[in-house]
Amino acid sequence: MSRRPFIAGNWKMNLGPRDADTLAVALKRLLADNTATDIAVAPPYVSIPAVVARLRHTGIAVAAQDLDPLKSGAFTGAVAGEMLAQAGCSHVIVGHSERRKLFGDTDDIVAAKLAAAYRAGLRPILCVGETLAERDSGQARSVVTNQLAAALVDLSLHQVLKLTIAYEPIWAIGTGRTASPAQAQEMHAAIRAWLAEHYPREVPASLRLQYGGSVKPGNASALLAQPDIDGALVGGAALNAESFRDIVAAAS
Ligand code: PGA
Repeated sequence: MSRRPFIAGNWKMNLGPRDADTLAVALKRLLADNTATDIAVAPPYVSIPAVVARLRHTGIAVAAQDLDPLKSGAFTGAVAGEMLAQAGCSHVIVGHSERRKLFGDTDDIVAAKLAAAYRAGLRPILCVGETLAERDSGQARSVVTNQLAAALVDLSLHQVLKLTIAYEPIWAIGTGRTASPAQAQEMHAAIRAWLAEHYPREVPASLRLQYGGSVKPGNASALLAQPDIDGALVGGAALNAESFRDIVAAAS
């Protein structure tokens, strides 16, 4: 089965509404001819409405970078999935390593956020990945499959089929030190094998696995040429319209 490539840009804590709109204008122009690749961008919460308005009818989806697991109530500063859906998001990133490390998102919280995403009708991009110490001690594969098992434990088959998984080795995020295509492929194959062990064949066959961690125009083609790498979750290089366009082109 051929899987349609999926490139997502994670803007992290960059670009307020005005600057986000400027980037969205450029993306709209540069990506107007794209038909081969699914594309999403994830602006910070406050910039979502501007980007949704700008990218309407372009085929570029808008994702949130996180969501709260709860529905509503007295939780100052939190944003619920339903609000994101109402604001025009179709996707949401869940379990990014920065959320796990800096904001205390445990495996249980990640699972609750996934459930909340589906409740709100959002399609999650679930991030998994090991630290350098875990890789050096030979635990990379077990860390990643344990993260998957914990996150997917309560999901129905129907929900799992709507998932995108982003493998992001933590040592490659924002460091300029990308995983080699062979290293990334090896983990993607392991993730697909794990899916094959736990779900019917359509799951490993159809789920899209993105690689993330210092993806740039210069390394995107080699990564995306790997048989189990179906897309990319792009941080730094997604803040530049030309770079992001070039990464999308590398996927097509
Ligand atoms: P990076 O970020 O491309 O800047 O390494 C990737 C990510 O954190 O999703």
